Amino acid sequence: MISQNSIAQVFETARVEEVIGDFVQLKKSGSSFKGLSPFSDERSPSFMVSPVKQIWKDFSSGKGGNAVTFLMEHEHFTYPEAIKYLAKKYNIEIEETERTDEEKEQQNAKESLYLVSEYANAYFQKVLHKTDQGKAIGLSYFKERGFTEETIKKFQLGYSLDDWQAFTDDALGKGYNIDFLSATGLTIVKDQKRFDRFKGRVMFPIHSMSGRILGYGGRILTNDKKAAKYLNSPESEIYHKSKVLYGLFFAKQTIAKEDNCYLVEGYTDVIQFYQTGVKNVVSSSGTALSSDQIRLINRLTNNITVLFDGDAAGIRASIRGIDLILEQGMNVKVCMFPDGEDPDSFAKSNTLVEITEYLKENAKDFIQFKASLLVKEANNDPIKKAETIRDIVNSIAKIPDQIKREVYIQECARIMDISESVLFSTLAQINKKDLQEASKSFKQEQKAFQVVKNTEEPKQKIDIQYELERKIIEILMLYGDKTEQFEDLILKEDEVSGELVLEPTIHETRVFEKLYLDLQEDEMQFTNEKFKLLYYSIIDKLNQDEDFSTRHFINQLDQESASMVTTILMDDEKYNLHDWERNQIIPKEKDHSVSQLVSQTILSLRCHLIDKKVAEYKNETLKETSDMRSIIEDVKDYVGLKMLLSRKLGKVIG
Ligand code: CTP
Ligand code: MN
Repeated sequence: MISQNSIAQVFETARVEEVIGDFVQLKKSGSSFKGLSPFSDERSPSFMVSPVKQIWKDFSSGKGGNAVTFLMEHEHFTYPEAIKYLAKKYNIEIEETERTDEEKEQQNAKESLYLVSEYANAYFQKVLHKTDQGKAIGLSYFKERGFTEETIKKFQLGYSLDDWQAFTDDALGKGYNIDFLSATGLTIVKDQKRFDRFKGRVMFPIHSMSGRILGYGGRILTNDKKAAKYLNSPESEIYHKSKVLYGLFFAKQTIAKEDNCYLVEGYTDVIQFYQTGVKNVVSSSGTALSSDQIRLINRLTNNITVLFDGDAAGIRASIRGIDLILEQGMNVKVCMFPDGEDPDSFAKSNTLVEITEYLKENAKDFIQFKASLLVKEANNDPIKKAETIRDIVNSIAKIPDQIKREVYIQECARIMDISESVLFSTLAQINKKDLQEASKSFKQEQKAFQVVKNTEEPKQKIDIQYELERKIIEILMLYGDKTEQFEDLILKEDEVSGELVLEPTIHETRVFEKLYLDLQEDEMQFTNEKFKLLYYSIIDKLNQDEDFSTRHFINQLDQESASMVTTILMDDEKYNLHDWERNQIIPKEKDHSVSQLVSQTILSLRCHLIDKKVAEYKNETLKETSDMRSIIEDVKDYVGLKMLLSRKLGKVIG
């Protein structure tokens, strides 16, 4: 985790107008700067930056905040990513806390892998543009595919010489360590020999969401039947195939702006689409879409359109994976291309207007699409039809939103020409089965920790601080990785005076970031050592992993902490289970109040801290040496604050 010191230093150094100036053209206007909103397409500027207050406000979208929130909004960085970006920009060295020497070493090793990958990226591009072989073979291949010079540069495409160790020798000559070359997979080390993995291939670098090079795809150019057409970097410390989407770095802004993401099959589809002008496009590069990848998209938009090749054979298989997308509550559309065409070829032979038109005409809602496909397949065969119903309802059951589920049931009843009640009762059956499985796995988990649970030390008498700390752990475990809306004070232009004023505004952020920042702001320290350790390890985990799974997290803990966590969570689970049994549905209401729960906990904690402070002052007054006047002033301040907080708390609770 980044130390509080470093965060403070970053905040002190970063100038909001400089940070934003790298992305938006700003013009001086009075004491502020103005520019065109980067969050919408507008003609007259409504985006304002105040260097005095170090804040920004976008009047067209309503967004606003400081330098860090700008990077989070615009670049879709997480909080630590934004801090690291700023540290790099301002040459601030980041201190990491809570790290053992071993972890530090690991972090350095990871950084070395990034450096090797970035070096290779520059090298492959140089070879493509500057060597005879690169130009004659690599560059001419890309041009033949229809990629322009600009596109080739944008996507940083490259070429690896058709030579057993040209790259490896070059990198070693530049002082790069063979261990890191091998760990990234760029060099294959076998006995005493070293080979370039991507020998004789054109190179597609794979970027992280923030633009770092994680790995490569390399396409062969000869007709060698034995060699794979595409070769990818192996999994490494920095490259996890299932957590990366090709093209996301270039597409993220447009995905958010257009509120839709096109999903295609591979590198060339992404590039061709982008070049034609459809920039909100990504690919999972040959593998089935993983839930981590869906989560990446979900950070930017709720809408995804899956584009299929023209051949019908692949569709059946692709459709399976789509249930995963529904599960995350996203709206899914699908679009097929004409026979024999894929997104790449279609984009190559059509203009932007034609493509946009085609997508508009042919993108169909996934459930409706699936229902019509199944109806055609079942074709009056009653047994097949029964299977079909189960199949479609299985998909519908994945949708978290109950209203949507009902609408789809009605819609499918119409398309498939069956009664709604049949579909509804199938849905109820499926839900019941899921419920039993959930309950079963809960019971297993309970068993696994039973032995340790009994040895848990008895809780002390009701202690507010203890309860609140426990509550924070519970919230982090249950909802830490959720994105929620919170009320925050944000800059706004006063309609009458034109002055910039602070106004309460809804702000969307991840729960753990909100908690972490608020607690840090209050300089709140955990008093319970066990909670404190847990708190830091949860925050650390949430910081690192896009995909925080309670179960995985618990598995990594020592027995005692694991027992503590499960005890905390179990109280909650018990309540859930009880409700499920009664209602036969999974209660969702609980989730609606997450942001309330968080705000309420933080406010309660603040009140408690103030009470403690005031009590401390009372003790002070008993001492001879105390400066009574200053103590009374301080206590008055605290009591005022407490009243303010209590009022706010009342509002949140009520
Ligand atoms: N792909 C892959 N691994 C493979 C084959 C394909 O990752 N073994 C991905 C690539 O990202 C590619 C996309 O799927 O861009 C489309 O595949 P294909 O059309 O076979 O690749 P092309 O390079 O377009 O080959 P061709 O010129 O033969 O169409
Ligand atoms: Mn192709």
